[in-house]
Amino acid sequence: MQKVASLPLPPADALDASAALTTCIGDAIEAAGGWIGFDRYMALALYAPRLGYYSGGAAKFGRDARDGSDFITAPELTPFFARTLARQFAPLIAMDLPRVLEFGAGTGRLAADLLLGLETEGALPETYQIVELSGELRVRQQETLAARAPHLAGRVQWLDELPAQFEGVIVGNEVLDAMPVRLFARLGGRWHERGVALADGKFTFEDRPLADNAIPDALRALPGDHDMVTETHAEAEGFTRAVGAMLTRGAAFFIDYGFPAAEYYHPQRAEGTLMCHYRHHAHPDPFLYPGLQDITAHVNFSGIAEAAVDAGLSVAGFASQARFLMNAGITELLMELDPTDARAFLPHANAVQKLLSEAEMGELFKVIVLTRGLDDALPLAGFARGDRVHAL
Ligand SMILES: C[S@@+](CC[C@H](N)C(=O)[O-])C[C@H]1O[C@@H](n2cnc3c(N)ncnc32)[C@H](O)[C@@H]1O
Repeated sequence: MQKVASLPLPPADALDASAALTTCIGDAIEAAGGWIGFDRYMALALYAPRLGYYSGGAAKFGRDARDGSDFITAPELTPFFARTLARQFAPLIAMDLPRVLEFGAGTGRLAADLLLGLETEGALPETYQIVELSGELRVRQQETLAARAPHLAGRVQWLDELPAQFEGVIVGNEVLDAMPVRLFARLGGRWHERGVALADGKFTFEDRPLADNAIPDALRALPGDHDMVTETHAEAEGFTRAVGAMLTRGAAFFIDYGFPAAEYYHPQRAEGTLMCHYRHHAHPDPFLYPGLQDITAHVNFSGIAEAAVDAGLSVAGFASQARFLMNAGITELLMELDPTDARAFLPHANAVQKLLSEAEMGELFKVIVLTRGLDDALPLAGFARGDRVHAL
């Protein structure tokens, strides 16, 4: 197992769990003849039962490394994120769509604050369903709901798998980026798949040349012949098709960091977008402490849009997070606080600034909405200005 001197050392029990996961992934590599695709490595590192990052006991979400966490997400930063989503969801729920379904609900903050926001908007859904892969997170979600919104917790149900059919509003914040990706490297003008092998008992990248007919379409046409590394997202696209097959009527909102394909596969982005998060340090080494750090890649929103259209959905809006939140009324909501009460106002104002700032989450994060069976006059205030569907 690799160590990095500048990063905090995990506690002994976490190191033991990481060693067990390392053995499990090593066995998978040997069973596969010495090499696995990076998507398989990422799936095991994040989701192997009990030991993967999301299936195991890591703290994951939080404000800083002192609480043992690795990163913070928008719903954890401020309830104004969820309250703004509630403003956007309320008129949809009023269109006889009284159900919400959330994918990958993290600590349960979004669920709790969204339900509270919808209550304020007079648009409480009859049910709020959560699809969560991690048993540990499900318990945390139940605790958060009991603490923050006890009178609404009875509306929440946990599902073990996607329902066959769903009518209502779907939401997933930072879920698509947590889905396994394949890695590819163009070296000396030739495409290779970058997978994981073992060298001296340690994980290492190993590139295997691809036959012409095995090069993914998204990469085949990329201009230039300079060396580059990038990713493809079959899992996130398959997930989008599954959402499309399930959604009989309603709207699905996915919020995440990423770009349209032209930007994602721009020749200047030659190092790909794979990124790991450990104790609030972002770094590029996916082999550090397997199971104890998050591994992510940015989302190719054009691929998500294409998969959605394949499944019969419409792409009803695509905007930067800043545009979406401002259009949907985040600043008006913030102004409900008393700005002269600095102690109450400033922490929220700072968090909202982080959500909106171009230099932080405002431009890198995007919101896409996929719909079925809703007419053209949709109440989608979040996309009223700055809609970029044309860029997908
Ligand atoms: C980065 S966390 C985001 C958590 C939360 N939404 C937030 O914003 O704080 C990613 C979450 O996506 C979940 N996830 C990944 N793939 C999923 C899938 N196919 N279905 C449901 N949840 C999934 C993970 O288990 C994890 O809870």
